Amino acid sequence: MFKQVKKVADRIINSEHVHIVTHIDADGVAAGSIAASTLQRMGKNYSIQFVKQLDEFVIEDLLNKNPELVWFTDLGSTMEISKLNHVVTDHHQCSSENCTPYTLNPHLFGLDGSIEISGAGTTYLVSKTIDKNNIDLASLAVVGACGDLQDRKQRRLVGLNRSILEDGRKAETVEWQMDVQYFGRETRPIYKLLQYATDPLIPGITGREEACISFLVDLGIPLKDGDRWRRWIDLTKEEKRKILSAITKMLLQKGFGNALAKRLIGEVYILTQEDQGTELHDAKEFATLLNSTARYGKPEVGLRVCMQDREEALKEARSLLKSHRHNLIEGIQFAKDEGIIRGKYLQYFHAGEGIRDTIVGIITGMLLNEEETTADLPMIGFAATEDGRIKVSARGTKRLVNKGLNLSAALKKAAEKVGGIGGGHDIAAGATIPKGEEERFLEILEKELKNQLS
Ligand code: C5P
Ligand code: C5P
Ligand code: ZN
Repeated sequence: MFKQVKKVADRIINSEHVHIVTHIDADGVAAGSIAASTLQRMGKNYSIQFVKQLDEFVIEDLLNKNPELVWFTDLGSTMEISKLNHVVTDHHQCSSENCTPYTLNPHLFGLDGSIEISGAGTTYLVSKTIDKNNIDLASLAVVGACGDLQDRKQRRLVGLNRSILEDGRKAETVEWQMDVQYFGRETRPIYKLLQYATDPLIPGITGREEACISFLVDLGIPLKDGDRWRRWIDLTKEEKRKILSAITKMLLQKGFGNALAKRLIGEVYILTQEDQGTELHDAKEFATLLNSTARYGKPEVGLRVCMQDREEALKEARSLLKSHRHNLIEGIQFAKDEGIIRGKYLQYFHAGEGIRDTIVGIITGMLLNEEETTADLPMIGFAATEDGRIKVSARGTKRLVNKGLNLSAALKKAAEKVGGIGGGHDIAAGATIPKGEEERFLEILEKELKNQLS
């Protein structure tokens, strides 16, 4: 793998102008910023472009422009780009037959790109090879990995992500510790952290504001400090222990078992150079901030935050974050109102124009989390795109992946059969298909899933 990293790095070193093409999610923005910082530090000319997916339109446009070198990050593991002078640093499923010789991808070396390294991670490996002083950028690679939920399965980053963590520690940009796994440790009032707790869900508490407040009051935990809401990071060790043991007890009483209760605690990743109590200090929160920009047509705002703009860009990102949170809450409700339909091998909802195509994936994942306790079926979400096609997002569970589920392969096959494209990871994949083909797509998909799971 190191030889391949070197090959990609050399091609970049030998180019004057590099055009970066990256993905519009947190990992994509983090990957794009690592690439951009690397080129900037080398004094190269560079430009950057963000895309929803690498489809024929994007490739045709690139062929017309024909840049000296195109650096695809967090996408590009496909043969279609071979006519371009290019390099790829990616982690989506691929094999040596369907990707080009200038592709760095963990799957080519028998590693699992869905958990061992992200798009930002592979980009970082090249950056570090170009100049070992770039190890400070490890923090962005950790943000990318957390954005792709690579810490979720084992409650810690694993594989190559671990050596990236070590680099970050050496550069004094990353640290980690054991703590609660819920989102918003640094910025949310504690009762809000509990209200939106989904993995694991807290029976009787999640989703109920009043219940969260009385749960804390009953434990004797002050909600406020003066007129400021207390956040998880403001609690004493003893207070944290009290809350965690009360939640564990509730989970066990409801028969959820030890394994689930254990998921409450795991590693959290801290960006040590950022201010405590901001969205940038915790890697998961940083990733969500990036999603709030790039998924709403403002990827350059996220890029600037990654590249150290702590004034205007950060301010704008924070305001985008507010509406992102609002959109997620509304989107979940919308999908539920439309109805989640259960088949034998999958469950799905069709949001039409009710949910943006760029966040339907996040909502699909959140809904699966909620439904997981009642039905262990992959969740499929449909949403209309601006150009009249249909975006599909699919999310699965670890248990199903262990039984053979590969959403990437299934979506790719079903999408191609109805004239679309698809791909991704075993546990999370996406596709775009022509409008009106949803039913046929679902039929083919259901057959594929049946094959995989039996
Ligand atoms: O394109 P990319 O690889 O960056 O995106 C991976 C996607 O897979 C993310 O949207 C992430 O949220 C999703 N994922 C998931 N559950 C996992 C792992 C990844 O939903 N366990
Ligand atoms: O868009 P969504 O978040 O549902 O995508 C899930 C995963 O599938 C991401 O890793 C994304 O890059 C990938 N994907 C893909 N090809 C598509 C759509 C999504 O590889 N056409
Ligand atoms: Zn990624």
